[in-house]
Amino acid sequence: MTMTHDGAKRTRNKRLLQWVEEIAGLCNPDRIHWCDGSQAEYDRLCEEMVQKGTFIRLNPKKRPNSFLARSHPTDVARVEDRTYICSEKQENAGPTNNWMEPQKMRGILLELFEGCMRGRTMYVIPFSMGPIGSHISHIGVEISDSAYVAANQRIMTRMGQAALDALGPDGDFVPCVHSIGAPLQPHQKDTVWPCNDTKYITHFPETREIWSFGSGYGGNALLGKKCFALRIASVMARDQGWLAEHMLILGVESPAGEKTYVSAAFPSACGKTNFAMLIPPKALDGWKVTTIGDDIAWIKPGADGRFYAINPEAGYFGVAPGTNMDSNPNAMLTLKENCIYSNVALTDDGDVWWEGMTKEPPAHLIDWKGNDWTPGSGTPAAHPNARFTAPAQQCPSIDPNWEDPNGVPISAFIFGGRISKNFPLVLQAYDWEHGVYLAATMGSEATAAAVGQAGMRRDPMAMLPFCGYNMADYWKHWLRIGRQRVATPPLVFRVNWFRKDDKGKFIWPGYGENMRALKWVVDRCRGRARGVESPLGWVPPFEELVLDGIEFSKDRFYEIMNIDRERAQQEANDQEELFTRFGDHLPREMEIERELLLSRLYHSPTVWDLRSASAT
Ligand code: GTP
Ligand code: SPV
Ligand code: MN
Repeated sequence: MTMTHDGAKRTRNKRLLQWVEEIAGLCNPDRIHWCDGSQAEYDRLCEEMVQKGTFIRLNPKKRPNSFLARSHPTDVARVEDRTYICSEKQENAGPTNNWMEPQKMRGILLELFEGCMRGRTMYVIPFSMGPIGSHISHIGVEISDSAYVAANQRIMTRMGQAALDALGPDGDFVPCVHSIGAPLQPHQKDTVWPCNDTKYITHFPETREIWSFGSGYGGNALLGKKCFALRIASVMARDQGWLAEHMLILGVESPAGEKTYVSAAFPSACGKTNFAMLIPPKALDGWKVTTIGDDIAWIKPGADGRFYAINPEAGYFGVAPGTNMDSNPNAMLTLKENCIYSNVALTDDGDVWWEGMTKEPPAHLIDWKGNDWTPGSGTPAAHPNARFTAPAQQCPSIDPNWEDPNGVPISAFIFGGRISKNFPLVLQAYDWEHGVYLAATMGSEATAAAVGQAGMRRDPMAMLPFCGYNMADYWKHWLRIGRQRVATPPLVFRVNWFRKDDKGKFIWPGYGENMRALKWVVDRCRGRARGVESPLGWVPPFEELVLDGIEFSKDRFYEIMNIDRERAQQEANDQEELFTRFGDHLPREMEIERELLLSRLYHSPTVWDLRSASAT
């Protein structure tokens, strides 16, 4: 049965119109709504959610035009164990992805999606990842039965009629089908956060399709983000010669006004948003950091032999807990209006609160589950993966070129995990191949979405949960693109803000103080800072880091830069386990770099000490 909707008035793209009919026929929604992306539409969606109880309108005096959503307690983060790459061949998904035969997965999905939108509205959500009209951008269309998704997508992407116009009658788009998987029987009362215990987040790289079932939260449901901009886009990037990365993009302006752009990959919940919005300390007066993106970068080689990066997103879906006026004032100021908060706590005067927002918690709150909460409750008031959805242009540090359709030129790639022992604060790779090796072997301690994985896990390029194909082929792509598609590859760095001392305390003050390491990175790019050769890479001698204004002695500095030979050897030996999983797919360079590292360590003293190395 064909349902009436105004699709034909909105686009002449035959493939799109046909696909919408097909999905409507499968899912059986009560009605179809084509999102135009207007403010009036957004306001209406939000008001409808307020009526249903999905949204709570926050106090307009405190947080104008802002809402709180509380998800179902079982639907609070990405579900990596339910995430699949359905390539024809298993080896093209590789050993680090869940895989299922496309035919088999289609069978499962068809059964799940059959009638899954009964009693609900099906939203057709056209969006552009990247500034509309940019040659680096791509169009997607998400079909979803969640108004929460539609509202979030208006903040996170360039959503609505403008995206349809950019698509045109013959344009190509990535189809993204999403359902919360909770059809309503006639007269059945809805819940505030319907979802399904059965969850599937599935990707078909060969046909470039996304199907997501059962969850309404974050990266499971906002399909432009991880599913399209990383998993499917990484495959497009491999085929077309560019990079789709889990990276922030920032600009560094020197006191002389010279601008350097860098891109940095940290695993989920490891400080990308903080770093992207960094405010330099007083000791580095005159230096300025500007924000282009906080989570994803699309990077294409330019005609001048450099890499150019855009932020494909238009908003931030950032971790709320820990965000405060000290750790990230720019984020706090971004949040002053027009935001959606998910799973944070509600104050008695209709504002939001989360752990770490203020030194003293309020005496009474409603927690993320909707229960009364006091500081004595013994449970977190906000869920640890509570998030804000905020428009990027509200960020005080937003870069004036953040929507430049040509992107910004990238001088360095920075990679950083969460490592409490033995990994120095900052180091530079010896060359591109060594840099790819350092990025590929990155390790980090687990985050919210990686269920049941305690301790360290390898997270190559911070892309472990986001690479849409064989990770070893992805390394090959990196090795190739740096040599073939640009005149000189960007410099590559590793950083680690998370090293701890014997008492278990962070050695490095972090946050804004990270500017001190970032300045060395920029100065290395500009060829004006010294480095010392260590077994792991070039490291800054003490004199090259500005350390005044913080209590950070020379001894403390050497403590954070030391390399314990045995631990480093152990680490390099452990990497073999990762490498052997890839069999023939592993590029030779990885094993060669590992051997070189082991030989450098072999000849090093028991504890490689930058102090004695600098003196010679
Ligand atoms: P996703 O949005 O999940 O991809 O993550 P993200 O990388 O943007 O994470 P986010 O910036 O929200 O990371 C927040 C976590 O990093 C919090 O636990 C912070 O306390 C911690 N963090 C950020 N910067 C620093 C730092 O410089 N030092 C220390 N010790 N912790 C930091
Ligand atoms: C991440 O987990 O890396 C995120 C949050 O950025 S989500 O969009 O939910 O994947
Ligand atoms: Mn992320």
